[in-house]
Amino acid sequence: MKGVILAGGLGSRLRPLTLVTNKHLLPIYDRPMVFYPIECLVNAGIREILLVTGGDHAGDFLKVLRNGKHLGVQHLEYAYQEGEGGIADALKLAEDFAENQKVCVVLGDNIIEGNIARAAGEFFAQRSGAKVLLKEVHDPQRFGVARFDGQGEDQRIAEIIEKPENPPSGYAVTGFYFYDHDVFDVCRTLKPSKRGELEITDVNNYYLKRGDMTHNTLDGWWTDAGTFESLYRANRLVAEGGANHLDLKAPRERVAVAGR
Ligand code: DAU
Repeated sequence: MKGVILAGGLGSRLRPLTLVTNKHLLPIYDRPMVFYPIECLVNAGIREILLVTGGDHAGDFLKVLRNGKHLGVQHLEYAYQEGEGGIADALKLAEDFAENQKVCVVLGDNIIEGNIARAAGEFFAQRSGAKVLLKEVHDPQRFGVARFDGQGEDQRIAEIIEKPENPPSGYAVTGFYFYDHDVFDVCRTLKPSKRGELEITDVNNYYLKRGDMTHNTLDGWWTDAGTFESLYRANRLVAEGGANHLDLKAPRERVAVAGR
């Protein structure tokens, strides 16, 4: 399974910070934002990674990430998204890189306390389809939100609604997605949403209709970092996480060694 980090978009909600660099290179405590999704993939054993970015500061990534070896990445590729046509538009650029393998897609501004290793292992064993990771939040209106059918063990996601005014549950769909190779055919069928983007939620609803999607719930905290409020929260959570941040420890040590 290969990893895809989506770090495009123009970061307009974080201006003026994003006038001088890409949103995903802004600091979260002691390292650039994009290190977290990379570390997350590497810790799950996914070490072939494509970074999709865009905008005026795409070149800054090379200075920071180079070939990725110092972060434990075996093979790092870059792709450039023109404009900001949406998450599914950015994902389209990963088709050749994926080479018919399954992909784990991570949004570049999503940060978690725990890890995705168990979910990655389960999806590796899943015959086909998709898997999403959910997290209960107090502000579901900001996210894609799951509507459930059934009770208890039989509970399954019936539909995902993007930024609903009246959320059907408190469970947000986080920016960690697993897909089989059909995802690229699905992306080709999408039409832009009201906000003019190709929506990842439409991709996920396709797999739900096909009856071929599983889900897990993330342990530990989860946050995005695309607004001043969430950027601040991400910094605070990581700073306060301290020694509990075991998953980040190994890559941090590797960085230290490589930097010597
Ligand atoms: O964080 C999880 C949420 O992310 C999900 O719950 C939503 O269903 C999903 O639509 C998305 O919502 P946002 O509106 O918060 O996504 P945003 O536009 O902030 O983009 C998130 C990341 O996706 C961004 O950091 C970089 C990448 N991206 C986004 C766009 C619009 C791209 O690579 N290219 C793009 O054109």
